[in-house]
Formats: sequence, C-alpha cells, structure tokens
Amino acid sequence: MERDQKVAFITGCSSGMGRESARHLSQNGYRVYAGSRTPEKLSDIASSTLYPILIDITDPTSVAQALEGIDRIDLLVNNAGYGLVSTVEEVTEKEMLAQFDVNVFGVLRMCRYVIPIMRRQNSGVIINISSFLGKIGLPLFTLYNASKYALEGITDSLRYELEEFHIRVHSIMPGFFDTNFARDNLVINDAIFKEDSPYRKTVAQLLPIISEQINSGNDPRDIAQMILEIAENGDAPARQTAGDKARKFIPMRRELSDEDFERRVKVYYGI
Ligand SMILES: NC(=O)c1ccc[n+]([C@@H]2O[C@H](COP(=O)([O-])OP(=O)(O)OC[C@H]3O[C@@H](n4cnc5c(N)ncnc54)[C@H](OP(=O)(O)O)[C@@H]3O)[C@@H](O)[C@H]2O)c1
Repeated sequence: MERDQKVAFITGCSSGMGRESARHLSQNGYRVYAGSRTPEKLSDIASSTLYPILIDITDPTSVAQALEGIDRIDLLVNNAGYGLVSTVEEVTEKEMLAQFDVNVFGVLRMCRYVIPIMRRQNSGVIINISSFLGKIGLPLFTLYNASKYALEGITDSLRYELEEFHIRVHSIMPGFFDTNFARDNLVINDAIFKEDSPYRKTVAQLLPIISEQINSGNDPRDIAQMILEIAENGDAPARQTAGDKARKFIPMRRELSDEDFERRVKVYYGI
C-alpha cells in the first residue's frame, strides 16, 4: 500500500449503495475494505484496492476480527441496514430487537471499534447512511423510522464527542433509491397480510406504492459520489439529503407544522 493512500471501511457492500460506494472510492484513490456477510458476492469487483471482508455487524467478535490488523481507517461508512415492515401491534419481539441490532447497535459497534483507530491518527470521517425516514414517520415503518431517527441522534451527539480528535461525523439521508432494499431486504411481518389484520387497508394501500417508489428510485451511484465528496471536503455539512423524495419531503417537513405535514403525506399516499 502506498504510504499516503487513504483507507475506507464500508459495511453492507454486497449490493446497492455499499457496493457502488466501495467501487467508486477504490477507483478514486482509496484502499477499500468492503464489509459484507457474504464477501464472495463481491469477487467480481475485488481488486488490489478493493478488499471484500467478512463482517456481521450484529456480532462484536466478528467486528473485532474484521478490523484486526487494519491500523489505519480514514473513512468509515456505516451503510448496512434493512427495513422492517410491521405495525407496532403485530411486531414480534425478535423482529423489533433485530431491527435495532442491525440499524442502530450495528453502527455503534462499528464506531466503538473504529474510533480508537481514528483517535490515534487524530483524524477520520464517519458517514452514517440514514434515511429521509430518519426525520419523517410513516405507518408500517415505525421500527425502521425509530432506528433511523436514532441514527440521526447518534450523528448529532458523536459530532461533539469526536470534534477534539478531528474526527468528522456526517449523515446522509437518502430518499428512495433503486437497490436491493425493496427486492431482498424489506423484512415483512407475517401478521400484516392476514385477512383478519386490523391494518390490512393501510397495508394494501401503502406497501405497493412504497415498494414501487424504491424500485424506481434514484441511482445509488449518486450516494457513492456524495460519500466521496463528504470525505474529501473538511467543510461538508453535518447532514445532506439525497434523491428526489428526500429533497421533496425534508424541506416540507421543516417548513410546515406537524399537522399540516401529516395532511400532505396522507393525501400523497392516499392513506
Ligand atoms: N434504497 C432505499 O430506498 C434507501 C432509502 C433510504 C435509506 N436507505 C439505507 O441505505 C442503506 C443501504 O441500503 P441499500 O438501499 O443499498 O439496500 P441494499 O441493496 O439492500 O443493501 C443493504 C446492505 O445492508 C446489509 N444488510 C441487509 N440486511 C442486513 C442484516 N439483517 N444484517 C446485516 N446487514 C444487513 C447487506 O449487506 P451484506 O449482505 O453485504 O452484509 C445489504 O447489502 C441502508 O442502511 C438503508 O436503510 C436505503
């Protein structure tokens, strides 16, 4: 490795934003550790600057093993995540805990292990891939919303905590992007589809629209470029929106009252 080559570690790289970011950063001068539960899925893009690496962010031993022997990390991208679709009444204990284990505690585990490396360097950038649903609620997405709202809080607090060590922390809030998210990584609670579910009307109305909006969403390569720009720009803003839906809804959320915003969302989704 060249002495000055920057090092990035990205989680959730087998598809979507993680995969595109690993590829883009490695093509732009970074040595990239592309973390995945299934690193073999990255063999087609592995190179002398892109190393697929096994990691399960829900397991602290796996996180420690993945980071063993890596003594420099300039950029950590906490990207791995999935969406649980369920009502609160019908969600199971297991589903509820798993959503936070990946989307929230997984991020904190990565930070716990990577911050000491960055602190020793006296530099580093952490980018959390959140969601516009980290600022906006939707029925059926309460647990996912809660996990991404939590991630926004983590970003805000960590920025203070790490400033004196010259470690920047940022959040990207994507709208809907065309990745494997809706095809493979929406975990749908069984009960919501049952005939006797009290929520079947909301499910029948909202779920097809959301799935369609994700599958026809923006190009994940835009996220890869945004990550590169944040990493390279010491003055990058704390959080940025990406994609059409985030750019539509986030400013509206800021400008309208809670009630007016809710009314707009209800009309928009027909719920
Ligand atoms: N697509 C969207 O519309 C959208 C919108 C807003 C925010 N986001 C966020 O963007 C991030 C990237 O998602 P994406 O859109 O690129 O979707 P994706 O193609 O499904 O990729 C997500 C990656 O996260 C990892 N992952 C999924 N389930 C996991 C689990 N149970 N445990 C551990 N890791 C898991 C997987 O990586 P490995 O299999 O390699 O481990 C997967 O490749 C996520 O945090 C998501 O919440 C997506």
